[in-house]
Amino acid sequence: MKILVTGGTGYIGSHTVVELQQQGFNVIIVDNLSNSSADVADRIARITGIKPELHVFDLCDAAKTEDLFVKNNDIKAVIHFAASKSVGESVKNPLKYYRNNLLSTVNLLESMVAHDVRYMAFSSSCTVYGQPEKLPVTEQTPLMKAESPYGNTKKIMEDIIFDTVIAHGINAISLRYFNPIGAHESALIGEAPSEIPDNLVPYLTQTAIGLRPFLRVWGNDYDTPDGTPVRDYIHVEDLAKAHVIALQRLLNGKQKENYETFNLGAGNGYSVMEVIKSFEKVSGLKLNYQVMPRRPGDIVRIWADPSYANLELGWKAEKSLDDMMRSAWEWEKSLRKSGIKR
Ligand code: UD1
Repeated sequence: MKILVTGGTGYIGSHTVVELQQQGFNVIIVDNLSNSSADVADRIARITGIKPELHVFDLCDAAKTEDLFVKNNDIKAVIHFAASKSVGESVKNPLKYYRNNLLSTVNLLESMVAHDVRYMAFSSSCTVYGQPEKLPVTEQTPLMKAESPYGNTKKIMEDIIFDTVIAHGINAISLRYFNPIGAHESALIGEAPSEIPDNLVPYLTQTAIGLRPFLRVWGNDYDTPDGTPVRDYIHVEDLAKAHVIALQRLLNGKQKENYETFNLGAGNGYSVMEVIKSFEKVSGLKLNYQVMPRRPGDIVRIWADPSYANLELGWKAEKSLDDMMRSAWEWEKSLRKSGIKR
């Protein structure tokens, strides 16, 4: 029995592959390597002792997707990460996002239905909630209009999966992540964006290592305790564990409904300045940063109410903000040592 992980050489995908293998699952990966590299499979092998089978192609190619399922008739479940994820890029090039994220999901589901693969865990995002009126965010919080084409694709992907569940008897769980950061404790895998990162933590650690002159803090005049926006940061290893639990829930028929959603956050809100302070504390460095005007499309504050996931999945985020920043910094240093060009 195989578990197919799409986007399995990517940031969250690779950590989930490690966790799956460590729990005894046989994993195969499909990835187009658009924002990751093939050597992630070797790095995974250095952690777990097992090199996952890697199929390099684009899920937008329906024939290749189908062929994968034809040749691997023992795929039991799919964890679907593969997607483009830059909010800013999606605003500039929405059609790329609609094509890439939606077509790949449709192709994948069509092959799953055709081959009677009945279980999917889906990588969704708190972005589907927009800027909610009430905090913290529960699974019942109404979904607001997406703030970006990227966010809209996540919402539509959830809808596509939901409709497929209803029509074709598939079982699915959408996991809505808040802000995943940090890296594996081995410092062998982590976030390695191929372009200049948009996200806070990779930009911050790249600044600290000298790749960027300073971190731009996008606004300190928000209505928050220190004026900078507040997010619910969650360690990627905690997140990876939640995927394995969700998969077991699917496989063991433990769902309450055939389609379920869970918020995956730590339940704490931290500001950009608190993240910077935590980094400075754990690294012993002074970070160069400058306050800039607000970034268009940024929401002011969001954090999760993770109690439903705590109760139903028996899962809880365990690592602290300092743990997250320490591991992100160890990973950045290890990337520099490995000589990977960025
Ligand atoms: C966004 C998306 C999220 C998506 C994620 C992946 C929204 C609301 N959230 O998260 O769904 O999964 O991107 O790309 O669309 N910041 C700086 N300087 C920087 C970078 C960021 O000050 O150089 C600040 C931002 O203003 C924000 C915080 O850091 O307050 C976090 O930003 P970021 O890491 O980009 O994540 P989100 O925008 O929260």
